[in-house]
Amino acid sequence: MAVGIIGGTGLTRLDGLTIEREEAVTTRWGEPSAPLVFGRLGDTEVVFLARHGNPHRIPPHKVNYRANIQALKDVGVERVIAVAAVGGITERAGPSAVLIPDQIIDYTYGRAMTFFEDDLDEVVHIDFSWPYCAELRADLLTAAARAGVDAVDGGVYAATQGPRLETAAEIRRLANDGCDIVGMTGMPEAALAREAGLCYASLSVVANWGAGISDAEITMADIERELETGMARVRAILERFLMA
Ligand code: HPA
Repeated sequence: MAVGIIGGTGLTRLDGLTIEREEAVTTRWGEPSAPLVFGRLGDTEVVFLARHGNPHRIPPHKVNYRANIQALKDVGVERVIAVAAVGGITERAGPSAVLIPDQIIDYTYGRAMTFFEDDLDEVVHIDFSWPYCAELRADLLTAAARAGVDAVDGGVYAATQGPRLETAAEIRRLANDGCDIVGMTGMPEAALAREAGLCYASLSVVANWGAGISDAEITMADIERELETGMARVRAILERFLMA
C-alpha cells in the first residue's frame, strides 16, 4: 500500500524517488497544496505532497489541510509521514535534531479543522488521546536506528498559528505546558488524518531554538542552514523506511 509523504519547509522533493507521474487532483474540500507526485523508492509506492506548494508559497495558516489529507486518502494512501520544520524548546530538541513526537498541544485558531462539520447524520468525536500512529512511529524509529540516525523517541509538539515566530514569553509558556518543539503545521493535519482513518506520524526537524532561548535573532537564513543538516537525516530515515 502506498505511503504518503507530506513534505514541509526544506523538503519539497525527495531524492532517490523515481517519479512515475504527477497528477493535479481536486477534492470535495478544494485543491491540495500541489499536484500529487507518484513514485517509487525501493519497493514502496510513494505519493508525495509539498505542504506549502512547489515552489514554496502557501503559509501555514493558509494550507488547505482538509484537501491535502483527502487527496491522499482518495488515491488509496493508508500511512502518512508528515515532515515538519520546528523550533526546539527542550534540551533534547536542539537545532538539527530529529524528533518523532508522540503528543500534540493545539494552539492554532480559525483553521478549518474537521471533516465532520456539515451534513452530518450524527455528531462525531474521534479518539485523539494518542494523536500519532504508534505502529508507524515504531517503524520510523527502527528505520532511523538502521540508518544510523539519532532520532528522539517522543516529545510534545506545540502547534502555533504563525506565520510569525513566537515571542520569548510564548516559548516560556509552551515550555511550562510541557512542549518540546513548536511548529505551525502539525494541526489540524494530524487530527484530520485521524478523522480520515489514516495512520499518521511526524518526522520533526529542529531548525532553530525557540524564541528567547538563545540570544540570537532568528533569521530565515539560519533556519534554512540548520534545516539542510536535519533534512539530510530525514532523507536517510525515509530511504531506510521505504526500502524495508
Ligand atoms: N516556531 C514555530 N515554527 C517554526 C519554528 C519556530 O521557532 N522554526 C521552524 N518552524
